Amino acid sequence: MAVEFQASRTRENLMRAFAGESQARNRYTIAADAAKKQGLYSIQQVFLFTADQERAHAERYYGLLKNLSGTTIEISGGYPVDHFDDVVKLLKKAEHNEMEEADDVYQAFGNVAKEEGFLEAASAFFQIAEVEAVHGRRFRKLAELLEQNKYFECEGNGQWMCMNCGHIQSGKLVPPMCPVCRYERGYFIPVEIAPYLGFDFIKK
Ligand SMILES: [Fe+2]
Ligand SMILES: [Fe+2]
Repeated sequence: MAVEFQASRTRENLMRAFAGESQARNRYTIAADAAKKQGLYSIQQVFLFTADQERAHAERYYGLLKNLSGTTIEISGGYPVDHFDDVVKLLKKAEHNEMEEADDVYQAFGNVAKEEGFLEAASAFFQIAEVEAVHGRRFRKLAELLEQNKYFECEGNGQWMCMNCGHIQSGKLVPPMCPVCRYERGYFIPVEIAPYLGFDFIKK
């Protein structure tokens, strides 16, 4: 049933989504600091990279509220407190939150928007849900590698990229410092992460 935008549930859901994305962005910049403190500089960069994408989502939702500029939208919602020092825990909580957005929250918001006749908002919810699923898989993969002690070493022949200078290191493990730029090993990221970031570092 079509409804007026200013009386819609979709306007509230857009504000909830804007709040959620804004918080995700900040949580990831704070998580990036935790990773940095532990010398995991490449994970710091992945958190910051993802935080920028959350900002883009926030901007998209905020843009869909532009017609209501000058008004206030009251919402209620539940938002996570995931303030941990442990990077694996941060990654796992981030994965959980991303998957909740992807599978539940944005699907529900998209369906309401469709019912109410706001097709552009509906498609934004569904499209961003897909990105959040990519984020969820990205964080899960990082958590798995760290937890299994495979982030800096592997059984077979692995490849890592120094995120400072771009050097590709092959072998069983990452040296204590990059042989090219001399930055510490925390700058290296396993090349197998590349598809989870949405690109490949190297052409085979
Ligand atoms: Fe997002
Ligand atoms: Fe996300």
